[in-house]
Amino acid sequence: MSTHPALSAPTTLRHARILGLGGYRPERVVSNEEICQFIDSSDEWIQQRSGIVTRRFAREDETVIDMAEAASRQALERAGLEPGQVDAIIVATVTYPFQTPAAAPVLAHRLGVEDPAAYDISAACAGYCYGIAQANDMVRAGSADTVLVVGVEKLSDFTDKHDRGSAFIFGDGAGAAVVGVSDRPGIGPTIWGSLGERADAITQREAWTDLRPAMEDASRTTALEWPSFTMQGQTVFRWAVFSMAPVARRAVEAAGITPSDLAAFVPHQANMRITDAMVKALDLPEDVAVARDIAETGNTSAASVPLAMSRMLDEGEVGSGGLALQIGFGAGLVYAAQVVEMP
Ligand code: COA
Repeated sequence: MSTHPALSAPTTLRHARILGLGGYRPERVVSNEEICQFIDSSDEWIQQRSGIVTRRFAREDETVIDMAEAASRQALERAGLEPGQVDAIIVATVTYPFQTPAAAPVLAHRLGVEDPAAYDISAACAGYCYGIAQANDMVRAGSADTVLVVGVEKLSDFTDKHDRGSAFIFGDGAGAAVVGVSDRPGIGPTIWGSLGERADAITQREAWTDLRPAMEDASRTTALEWPSFTMQGQTVFRWAVFSMAPVARRAVEAAGITPSDLAAFVPHQANMRITDAMVKALDLPEDVAVARDIAETGNTSAASVPLAMSRMLDEGEVGSGGLALQIGFGAGLVYAAQVVEMP
């Protein structure tokens, strides 16, 4: 038995919801023709097999922090909050080029958020949904009142433009959500997990440390290869199609609703055919709007779900206050799904 006095702890849980969403898309639109300058492919093949028509690439001097800042400012403005009111920042990214420090404290300084808890999470294309799960629990349990969750990627830095299997898939961008205290539950339970035995399905080609011998080889005879991302397209495709619809279904059940209560389905924008297969497997009612942002954005990993939802809200495809089923899945392999009330 412990001899110390009982520690203070919250005795009641609060509710949380997304108060504002923001997105940032870099200016430069990249066509399939431009991608095909470096791979043996065609606009027709890329559109048919992935649904991607164009994607955005950031400028060379445009950073993960720049894009995260733009999306965050929009999310805060839409939530009606000042940066000073944020007390925790979670950045989900796999393309911030510094091993340390994390992007979140740097972003906090840029935004003028004083002294927030700030850290990054590495959960690839599920990163934003992992972040929403954490922010929800933080607000509910009382470790933060207002959490900024950012999904941001500059995948163009880590894409091998000569790799036929991945060069056409990825794009750059940022999405952000402000999660805060609510009078009603606005974020349902998260269904999440991982399958580390398939870690090789999407991976950085080499570890950073593998570059060292080549860097230190004064004679420059050791090949120096950039550690870009590579993926086994078919493996990922099959896993997503067969395993992710059941996860999404469990998130709906856990939220205590039925598919007919949904206004929107916002899956990770990995491939239009994966989205189509999931819609079919879930047997969603006709009037549930389905995010298809991939056509003009490509796969932006951690940014893809908030960017896709922002587009639906901005274009009036769905209204504020409706329920959306969101799911992220990718390298790890990792996944996370939850139902959220759209801001
Ligand atoms: N252009 C033209 N042809 C290509 C090609 C390209 N870029 N890449 C592959 N092909 C060819 C192959 O050589 C093959 O030809 P063959 O039938 O003569 O052998 C054919 O197209 C089919 O290849 P396959 O690899 O089976 O293509 P696919 O239908 O699986 O589509 C992807 C490829 C990458 C679009 C698809 O696997 C995919 O989207 N996977 C999931 C990717 C993903 O979600 N990644 C991120 C995870 S978060």
